[in-house]
Amino acid sequence: MLLAGNSIGKEFVVTTFGESHGKVVGVVVDGCPAGLALSESDFQMELDRRIPAEPKIVSGRVEKDLVRILSGVFNGFTTGAPIALTVENKETNSSDYEAIKDLPRPGHSDYPARVKFGGFNDYRGGGRFSGRVTVALVMAGTVAKKLLSRFDVDVLAYTSSIGQVRADQKFSVDEIRKNRYESPTRCPNLVCGEQMQKAIVNAKKEGDSLGGTIECLVLGVPVGVGEPLFDSLDADLSKALFAVPAVKGVEFGAGFAAAELTGSENNDEFTLEKGKVSTSTENAGGVLGGLSNGMPIQMRVAIKPTPSIAKEQKTVNLATMQNTPLSVKGRHDPCVVPKAVPAIEAAIAVTLADHMIRAGLIPRVLKEH
Ligand SMILES: Cc1cc2nc3c(=O)[nH]c(=O)nc-3n(C[C@H](O)[C@H](O)[C@H](O)COP(=O)(O)O)c2cc1C
Repeated sequence: MLLAGNSIGKEFVVTTFGESHGKVVGVVVDGCPAGLALSESDFQMELDRRIPAEPKIVSGRVEKDLVRILSGVFNGFTTGAPIALTVENKETNSSDYEAIKDLPRPGHSDYPARVKFGGFNDYRGGGRFSGRVTVALVMAGTVAKKLLSRFDVDVLAYTSSIGQVRADQKFSVDEIRKNRYESPTRCPNLVCGEQMQKAIVNAKKEGDSLGGTIECLVLGVPVGVGEPLFDSLDADLSKALFAVPAVKGVEFGAGFAAAELTGSENNDEFTLEKGKVSTSTENAGGVLGGLSNGMPIQMRVAIKPTPSIAKEQKTVNLATMQNTPLSVKGRHDPCVVPKAVPAIEAAIAVTLADHMIRAGLIPRVLKEH
């Protein structure tokens, strides 16, 4: 039995490695069918999407990430062998972390990680717990998305709120596709996106940070994907989503609000539409009994505010065992939501690729395209 939790998936198996300030972050994707066209340029757009173009709302780190494909691709196509992918960590300044190595940041993983790993954990930049590790997930997600697109499955995520600023309207799929990466906050409503940006800048001025919510939509998933009981589609999607640091909640469809509805309000009634069994409402979020029901899968993810803040807070000096104030210096994202959007898309894509292979909907060898 594996003790470490660095792998996810049963047929499309993703194993990530690397720490924030180590040499590289990387991923091995095992079980990707042979015959998928794949090159380094496929990854660049997804990785660039991690870094919003607006410097005011992200950390001062300018991480231009270039992918190296180390194995599993030959003559421009996946071979069926494990695909190993790495990105170098160039923008590392570990000095900020020496000063606080005994002062666990409130809200961050420092304290439990130090206890669990006996102080041997790489604490620089949050080490294995850093948001930087989402680069590995985004690389795996790029492979998964490309594979899913061959089967007309599309994964979309966007920012629906930051702090108290909400974009409550229902967006069309075209608006989401076209606008979400146009706005530095990743909100398809560009005006609302600007207000979100202002809220982040204001929080930063106060030495504080903000969280928010990300809305997710998966289109084109056939009926019956998911392996109940324990590998139900909603369980596995949630597991992958909780692997993205700072994720604190996942809802499907009506989610927690369903608890306040009656059965007649919450049930999505079936109806025939162009010969296809559909539902007129979407409270289930596209999953019934752990299986996709053929409607779009809809999820909402809650992201907490960035733990590392300049505002003074209390902590304990673990070397002297004394209470001490802490103001975190260094380059931190005042809100991680915009950077998390591609990681959320990736977490969903790797889970669906795995389940579509398990359901027999994606073959081991792809036909020529
Ligand atoms: C893309 C991304 C970037 C992040 N950047 C930072 C950061 O700059 N500073 C920070 O304190 N936390 C950052 N985080 C959040 C921490 O990694 C996370 O809160 C921490 O590991 C504790 O885990 P938990 O919040 O899931 O409990 C980031 C998260 C993501 C997804």
